[in-house]
Amino acid sequence: MKQIFALKGHIIDCDAQKKVRFCPDSHLLIENGLCLGVFPQLPAAYANVPVRDHGDKLILPGFVDLHLHASQYANRGLGLDLELLQWLEQYTFPQESKFACLDYACSIYRAFCRELRQGPVTRACIFATLHTPATLRLMDMLEESGLVAYVGKVNMDRNAPDDLREAGPEQAAADTRRWLAETAARGYRRVKPILTPRFAPSCSPDLLRLLGEMAREGHLPVQSHLSENRDEVALVKRLFPDSPHYAGVYAQYGLLEAGIPAIMAHGLYLQPAEVELLGQCGAFIAHCPSSNANLASGIAPVKALMEAGVPVGLGSDIGAGHSMNLLRLTAQAVACSKLLQRQTAAGNATLRLEEAFYLATRGGGAFFGKAGAFSPGFAADAVVLDDARIRLPQDSLEQRWQKLFYLGDEREICAKYVNGVPIDLQGQNQR
Ligand code: GUN
Ligand code: FE
Repeated sequence: MKQIFALKGHIIDCDAQKKVRFCPDSHLLIENGLCLGVFPQLPAAYANVPVRDHGDKLILPGFVDLHLHASQYANRGLGLDLELLQWLEQYTFPQESKFACLDYACSIYRAFCRELRQGPVTRACIFATLHTPATLRLMDMLEESGLVAYVGKVNMDRNAPDDLREAGPEQAAADTRRWLAETAARGYRRVKPILTPRFAPSCSPDLLRLLGEMAREGHLPVQSHLSENRDEVALVKRLFPDSPHYAGVYAQYGLLEAGIPAIMAHGLYLQPAEVELLGQCGAFIAHCPSSNANLASGIAPVKALMEAGVPVGLGSDIGAGHSMNLLRLTAQAVACSKLLQRQTAAGNATLRLEEAFYLATRGGGAFFGKAGAFSPGFAADAVVLDDARIRLPQDSLEQRWQKLFYLGDEREICAKYVNGVPIDLQGQNQR
């Protein structure tokens, strides 16, 4: 039986040309979890469908967080006066090794899922840790939350402490195969596995090769980190002297190639050949401006990447990024792009707010297929915001939309839908 209903309110989304569309007092018509379109008045054939009237509230597409580490929910805001490699060694690796204890992992993942559910995000691509039992529990909790997610059991077999390192490539690959089999057995509907070599320095060449083979055999997507920090790029050059560049390491082992969906976080110091490679493979860059500022990694040339045809979305990169507030992150993408422009002799690096909004919704949503906008055939993922706390009575709809990104947070969020299904914002995970 067809399930048809409409959401009513001030509807705002972005088109494929990165232009914002404002539809005051309109209806978003939803059939079986997919958008049919946005209409000022319901078409005659749908005049009698149930309407959820959100009154004067704003209805935006669900936000997409293309890169975050659920385990690092515990160390958000810690050690952020360091740079990447020191921060990993002193804060992040010791924190992640605690996820060997399932009770500890569950307590952190429960809090993480609660905050993700209450924020503007409807879809996310998430790193767990190398621990299979804890990763499966995270996937159970996300499935229960109603959100859509890719989750990766992390692979790392070198350059890490003994208690956060897999014994070798064969064992790591075998663990990952067992994890994949278990995710299939659990029959998740919204949560899917994604192969997750942590980054090139954490993985031996053999491990990268085995993961590349797994990606091809199983038609599995891949997520990792790429070119975040100058010292990291130099380390990759030392560890892989025969690769032409950092992206070339992943390409060499079958993790970056056409037909393998991939998300690479960061992409700050890419050579032109790396950008071309990403474009050819259709690999996404997850732009993480808050993380990049906190760790003083630098500023990714997002505008240039977009102009070169590389698909881009936004990532909070918790815990190097300190907040899961994707509204604020959208504004920060604009601010960082302007700082980059200030330092750049030629070209236009500045993102308009509507372009950053595109990245946070439709841009990242493209990794999931048709998601991140209200165009016909797109997944009906929506976030409903009551901006009474932050708006002035005389603000236009366009001004209200702008203010959301600078002044809004989870307090504004009063409803959320994923594939047309309402999310219980306050619900408690039982596990
Ligand atoms: N590179 C490898 N691991 C990590 C991580 O956990 N966070 C960030 N920001 N970069 C990484
Ligand atoms: Fe990261």
